[in-house]
Amino acid sequence: MKMWSGRFRQPLDPEFEKWQRSFPYDQRLLPFELAASRAHANALAHAGVLSSEELSEIVKALGEIGRRAESDPAFLNDPEAEDVHHFVEKQLAALIGATGYKLHTGRSRNEEIATDLRLFVRQSIDTLQNLIADWIEAMLARAEAAGTSAMPAYTHLQPAEPVLVAHWLLAYVEMFLRDASRLADCRKRANLCPLGSGAVAGATLTIPRQAMAAELGFDGPTANSIDATSDRDFAIEFVDALSLLTLHLSRWAEEMILFSTLAYGFVELPEPYATGSSAMPQKKNPDLLELVRGKAARVMGYATTLQTLVKGLPLAYNKDLQETQEPVFNASDTVIGVLPLVTGFMNTVEFNDAKMNQAASSGFMNAWAAAAYLVERGVPSRFAHEAVGKAVALAVERGCDLQKLPLADLQAIHSSFDAAFHSCLGLTEVLALHDVPGGTAPRHVKRALQNARERAAALRSQEPLAIL
Ligand code: ARG
Repeated sequence: MKMWSGRFRQPLDPEFEKWQRSFPYDQRLLPFELAASRAHANALAHAGVLSSEELSEIVKALGEIGRRAESDPAFLNDPEAEDVHHFVEKQLAALIGATGYKLHTGRSRNEEIATDLRLFVRQSIDTLQNLIADWIEAMLARAEAAGTSAMPAYTHLQPAEPVLVAHWLLAYVEMFLRDASRLADCRKRANLCPLGSGAVAGATLTIPRQAMAAELGFDGPTANSIDATSDRDFAIEFVDALSLLTLHLSRWAEEMILFSTLAYGFVELPEPYATGSSAMPQKKNPDLLELVRGKAARVMGYATTLQTLVKGLPLAYNKDLQETQEPVFNASDTVIGVLPLVTGFMNTVEFNDAKMNQAASSGFMNAWAAAAYLVERGVPSRFAHEAVGKAVALAVERGCDLQKLPLADLQAIHSSFDAAFHSCLGLTEVLALHDVPGGTAPRHVKRALQNARERAAALRSQEPLAIL
């Protein structure tokens, strides 16, 4: 039996009927639909619509539907179910007859889908927070293991200044900590319960909204029934946060690809995460990293899809909103799929310390330190910059490093150069010069590492919710 056939004299066009169904994809919301239905049944009993016998019959049948779906995938092969809500109603009726048809009293699918999708997003965020913690901890472990190993930092992709490898990894850690914080923030707004909002104007029974919300682990009921049935901000925020996360993964992947090229040679691709070429026997290709970069495009596409879907919709529910489900599922699946792989990659990738340190010690990346040395001797910064620039030009001409220029030549450029100059330009001295919180001086990086460890551990503190 359809959920809405009474008013119709003609059957639906069969092609249209098939095409408009969401059950092929919204069946994954079944656990949430069952939990929300149980909460509604309890509320109906509270409102006197269901007797206690009817309530326990319905609750038992909902449990049975969940068990069957888990043990027998074929159970979900229902070509007639329009959506997950219809499927549950049909199964209830099959199990307990007419009592099953009482469950929908005073409620609408509009509030149900809004509730189910919020529960999905909440669960996905909880899963993601742990996966992000794993990923961040893999980077932190590598940062710790890198010790005082250095590498060039680039601006404009030109060698700029040496930094600790740990400092570079911590830059990514910050990005993913922000992603985790965005998801936590999204979770707060998602975690309100639309049940009791009805189709648009609110339930027609005085049902205990607070209790329904509490039963499902929500922080409380949503405030406005028109908004609650048409709002998909939580889905948009969720996928936006994921799109930023994949953007960060994509930047990381791009750097790893560059650093694994022969030209850089900083990174040796781990074989379990690389592939070969069918044509060129020598090749080891960074396919994992390239696909990570590619997956970001998808997730950004899902974010755009969601915003575009909702932007022109008048209040309140419109069927277009059914189209918000798949981008949410796909974005969630994509990111949940990719995080364990990048974590595995990070655990096994080899850094070529010798090459990185060597690159960090050449290319005039101590030029700023040289200028700082002159500034310390009272030379105005602009003149110091100019003088060191000239020294660099001379060193380029002679094909040597700044440290190799004789003092006499330096003094011809500026009289403030003295014998202490050469000892200020070693890698250790240059790194130590950046002695500010957030800078690359080893003592600050050590503290930053500790601080990031604490923030990463806090991501795991969420208690899993046992509502299902
Ligand atoms: N399958 C629908 C969706 O995902 C459920 C809500 C249907 N509501 C309606 N008024 N037709 O949006």
